[in-house]
Amino acid sequence: MSKTATLQIDGKKYDFPIIKGTENELGIDIKALRGGTGGVITIDPGYKNTGSCESAITYLDGEEGILRYRGYSIEDLAEKADFLETAYLLIFGELPTTEQLQKFDKDIKAESHVDEEMKKILDGFPKSAHPMGVLSSLTSALIAFNPESVDVDSEEAMYEAIVMLMGKFPVLVSWALRKKQGYALDYGDDSLGYVENITKMMFKRPNQQYVKNQIVVDALDKLLILHADHEQNCSTSTVRIVGSSHAGLFASISAGISALWGPLHGGANQAVIEMLEAIKADGGDTAKYINKAKDKEDPFRLMGFGHRVYKNFDPRAKIIKVAAEEILADLDMEDPVLDIAKGLAEVALKDEYFVKRKLYPNVDFYSGIIYRALGIPTEMFTVMFAMGRLPGWIAQWREMRLRKEPIGRPRQIYIGENHREFKTVEKR
Ligand code: SDX
Repeated sequence: MSKTATLQIDGKKYDFPIIKGTENELGIDIKALRGGTGGVITIDPGYKNTGSCESAITYLDGEEGILRYRGYSIEDLAEKADFLETAYLLIFGELPTTEQLQKFDKDIKAESHVDEEMKKILDGFPKSAHPMGVLSSLTSALIAFNPESVDVDSEEAMYEAIVMLMGKFPVLVSWALRKKQGYALDYGDDSLGYVENITKMMFKRPNQQYVKNQIVVDALDKLLILHADHEQNCSTSTVRIVGSSHAGLFASISAGISALWGPLHGGANQAVIEMLEAIKADGGDTAKYINKAKDKEDPFRLMGFGHRVYKNFDPRAKIIKVAAEEILADLDMEDPVLDIAKGLAEVALKDEYFVKRKLYPNVDFYSGIIYRALGIPTEMFTVMFAMGRLPGWIAQWREMRLRKEPIGRPRQIYIGENHREFKTVEKR
């Protein structure tokens, strides 16, 4: 295998080193390109062919449908781990010992209070506000109440900011939901496990005792693991580039939440259920919607289908599909949109348009079925995605800062006007 790539421009040859990852991925290192060629750069809208960093956190193979966190398969972690230990693994690189996990849990619980003054910010939102906008704002507001955790340089200060965010974020998630429901805002209960605490803060009715439903806790725990990281996706890249200016962890995560909100990204889980409901209301005519998705003149896309990287089944979608059927059975529930989803997938996976473009169900296609079964409102689905992705965002931000990555600043090819003389308004 050659160790260099040669570029020829106007008859002149330039060699660039080829780097190889631990899974034999190859990348042409073009750090010296612009300087070495007198200004030539590459251009790659959407970064479909461009690596932004070297990372040791998550490995995915889109062709083979492989996803691993720190070398452990998503199938093993979803089956055998819990969300807090998966968060520890992503952030610190190893599965924790009992003592390490207990300390992590204790440090997080010590930081799980949110300043009462933050409620005044929440009060300012109308009930109709989308919870992703509320969550992004409240996450950014944490900076004002915890200024010491902004520009952190030492590993110790980073750890303090990390456990602070891991402790406060679930409270903000529950506040975003309870605001919409008109319920009093709640805090966690330190006697509960991390995910059980999230379900308690989200689902406890003001006038009722909280009663744990283990099926709900286990289902949510698995969903959060499946969403925990996904290498350099849109929102993670946002977290890294905002973090690269040393804006701090809270500001970086707040920006990541906004990026995740988009319907082409994490917002797709809400868009899938809205699409399935529309198909149901339209008499379940899946063929009509498959044709709309294929029609170039129609802006409609089959939400929950397709992926920038996976050109095979998204391994998370496989696990979630099975989990959705199990949870509905465990909760003795029926959901007609699950049958519509399965019917839609069955037709699409045999249709030339989808087969040729390698469009398969992604993580968002079935996840909403489970969230609905757990009693989570549709507008909160992407908030749940953000809750799951929090440790991955944190891990990626920490890796970028510890590796002292430079501030992100892409170049461009200018296609505007050449120089022209200013004209006074009389002459325009
Ligand atoms: C997530 O990156 C990640 O890792 C993200 C994520 C994570 O964990 O962080 O996995 C989470 O964001 C999952 C994706 C959720 N989004 C959706 O489900 C929205 C629907 N999907 C599409 O919008 C689309 O598939 C994207 C945005 C996901 C990927 O788009 P790409 O890679 O830019 O591909 P493309 O738009 O260039 O599509 C290639 C072709 C095009 O047709 P042609 O121009 O070649 O004729 O496939 C078509 C597209 O029109 N196509 C679709 C389609 N997705 C792609 N046609 C109909 N329905 C779709 N869903």
